[in-house]
Amino acid sequence: MKGILLHGGKGTRLKPITYTEVKQLLPVAGKPISQYCLEDMIAIGIKEINIVLGNVGAADVQQHYGDGKKWGISISYTHQAEPLGIAHAVGLTEDFVGDDPFVVYLGDNLVHGGIGKLADGFISGKCDAFVALTRVRTPEKYGVAEIDGGKLLRLVEKPKNPKSNLALAGIYFLRPSVFDVIRQLKPSGRGELEITEALQMLLEKGMNVGWAEITGWWKDTGTAADILDANRLVLDGIGREISDGVNNEQNIIGRVKMGTNVSIDADTMIKGPCYVGEGTRVSKSFIGPNTSIGSNCVLDGVEIEDSIVMDNCSISGEGRVNIHESLIGTGCTVETRNGVRKGTKLIVGRDSRISF
Ligand code: G1P
Repeated sequence: MKGILLHGGKGTRLKPITYTEVKQLLPVAGKPISQYCLEDMIAIGIKEINIVLGNVGAADVQQHYGDGKKWGISISYTHQAEPLGIAHAVGLTEDFVGDDPFVVYLGDNLVHGGIGKLADGFISGKCDAFVALTRVRTPEKYGVAEIDGGKLLRLVEKPKNPKSNLALAGIYFLRPSVFDVIRQLKPSGRGELEITEALQMLLEKGMNVGWAEITGWWKDTGTAADILDANRLVLDGIGREISDGVNNEQNIIGRVKMGTNVSIDADTMIKGPCYVGEGTRVSKSFIGPNTSIGSNCVLDGVEIEDSIVMDNCSISGEGRVNIHESLIGTGCTVETRNGVRKGTKLIVGRDSRISF
């Protein structure tokens, strides 16, 4: 089986972070979101992956993934010059796919526990296509499945009146037969070729489209709140991994994962689940649950919870700043000098300087 990782889209709902960053490369527990997708595909034995790049940050994506050697696989790239939809992106990979079955994974989707069971369902059911479904509270925002007696009857993209709360998660197992139907698609109301409509056409042709409901959590990381939620969910599954030689280990409580060369002083407490990246120095601070701090950051006199701080940030608060539910971009400087700042919530892009 081959893999396709979709890496397009502007990340409009994640501005200002996405003015400078590719949304799928935002770090969750110290790792880019799309890397979880890539590793899920590798975990089911996939050795050839094609990444479809959009027209935002393509060079950053290529720099991060390279030729795949780092993961012991081969990675190639396809450029989608315009954001014409998932099915359009898939259509561009026809030569790469050749005669093989393949999985398409949206690079901003995270699923707990990998895709092994879904792959098994696809293969053992000898399906023409296989979709992952998940129960959501707002089905009208997704592709929605109608099921009757265990049989998939219909798939509709963002229906006004959804017939169920079973949404299409962004993981699709397909065979080359899908390329014929993609060629017949017309742009939808939002000007895109919809993979949901391609799958519906397969159903109408009487092809065998299998499905399975995702049993663990699933997250589509479209907004800052979604990314923080994903961070919490991923951190919830980590174990304790403390870097060698770290001082004041007694101040690190519970499941905390650390890179190398982290330093914490005697006046700091870190309470898991947390991630702290390599080379980060923390003094007179409290890093609370559900927080990921990037590499080479300096935190001094800060209380922080339920947040993501990206690499190379400096945050200092003289013990008077309390930050929560924040997303702080790479290279930011945040400092408080005047008075106590409780409940500070920041969503700030790369290299911002905040002094208050
Ligand atoms: C896309 C698909 C939709 C699916 C969703 C999952 O939506 O069109 O069917 O449910 O991904 O994340 P989009 O993110 O383009 O709105």
